[in-house]
Amino acid sequence: MSVVGARPNFMKIAPFAAAIDAWNRADAARPIEHFLVHTGQHYDKDMSASFFQLLNIPEPNVDLGVGSGTHAEQVGRTMIALEQVMQRWRPDWLVVVGDVNATCAGAIVAKKEHVKLAHIEAGLRSFDMAMPEEINRLVTDRLSDLLLTPDAISDANLRAEGVTEARIRCVGNVMIDTLDRNRPAAAALDLDSVLTARRIADGATHPPVQLAGRDFAVLTLHRPSNVDHATILGPIVEFLIEEVCAVMPLVWSIHPRTRKQLQQFGLWTRILRTPAIVLVEPLTYHEMLKANLDARILLTDSGGLQEECCVLGTPCVTLRRNTERPVTLWEQGGLSQLVGNDVATIRQGFHAMRGVPKREHRPPLWDGHAAERIVEALVQASV
Ligand code: UD1
Repeated sequence: MSVVGARPNFMKIAPFAAAIDAWNRADAARPIEHFLVHTGQHYDKDMSASFFQLLNIPEPNVDLGVGSGTHAEQVGRTMIALEQVMQRWRPDWLVVVGDVNATCAGAIVAKKEHVKLAHIEAGLRSFDMAMPEEINRLVTDRLSDLLLTPDAISDANLRAEGVTEARIRCVGNVMIDTLDRNRPAAAALDLDSVLTARRIADGATHPPVQLAGRDFAVLTLHRPSNVDHATILGPIVEFLIEEVCAVMPLVWSIHPRTRKQLQQFGLWTRILRTPAIVLVEPLTYHEMLKANLDARILLTDSGGLQEECCVLGTPCVTLRRNTERPVTLWEQGGLSQLVGNDVATIRQGFHAMRGVPKREHRPPLWDGHAAERIVEALVQASV
């Protein structure tokens, strides 16, 4: 049984589900039955169903429908509903991915039900306990029987916490399996047509900027630490409008949390009236991949985008003070630079990075075959 809940889980579960299918086709004597649970944390079409369709993820066997809420509400509702599902189906393993509330809730329920637990993307640490995801990572890894890590830094983090060697398996980055598989389809898209179709006009009268052949920036922001306070989000928006847009157009794929906050802080209309900002609904996986492939630079607080920029070679200004993915940083050979959320350091990072040539970098085992290694590790751990 595997559990997903939020957008960043979907691109990680897709290759895992496909690798199980491939295993069953190749070795029908020992088939693996896969029961997929969606907690329903993300429920908008653009945040969930579009990823299932596009990435050929099997229809979830169960949707727990937990929806939005506080952390305790989401984790609590997931635990209550998932406990019943696990008691009914009694899986041999529960597989959780990433660091969202579904991950942590799933881990706790599995262990209390005496079900073996595997964590895909284990060992990441930001060492920042103000991040809800760090708490999810710590709880999940402490409970996991099999810790499937993306890189050697994560292995070292787990060893430092006393995890025994037998429980750690470095399998590489499963999200890069999805990236490699979908890159040709993404590259074939016409970005200007995509953005025109996905544009949020909301009364704006200027025509959409045409990006073909031009340098442009792509922005995503969703972390509570960046978007939940007007004193932080306001100056960032001012910088984007006055300084980034003075140099190149900016494609902004808007997260529902951020949209709500911009509207609440009275910043929404100002963004809509800025002709150099192409404001779009949350892009699909292929659309975002295409935007990343063609962009001169990304500005983001997403962990997944830091990794995709690393592999695609797009300079990445990361609006965070720390990262659980240090392997993507400039000093490790990647193209991500941490700038926090203070405008002075964002400005410095933006201007330093916007002239950096694109340069693809693949850490070891980010080779598109992580999911196969995950299935092998699970099978080995089951005998
Ligand atoms: C969650 C994850 C975060 C991940 C992010 C990716 C946790 C603790 N956080 O944060 O690690 O990087 O997903 O998106 O699990 N909303 C909608 N429609 C949806 C989903 C959300 O409108 O389909 C709105 C709701 O107002 C909701 C808000 O967005 O309250 C925040 O959603 P939530 O799932 O609580 O957290 P994310 O910020 O998305």
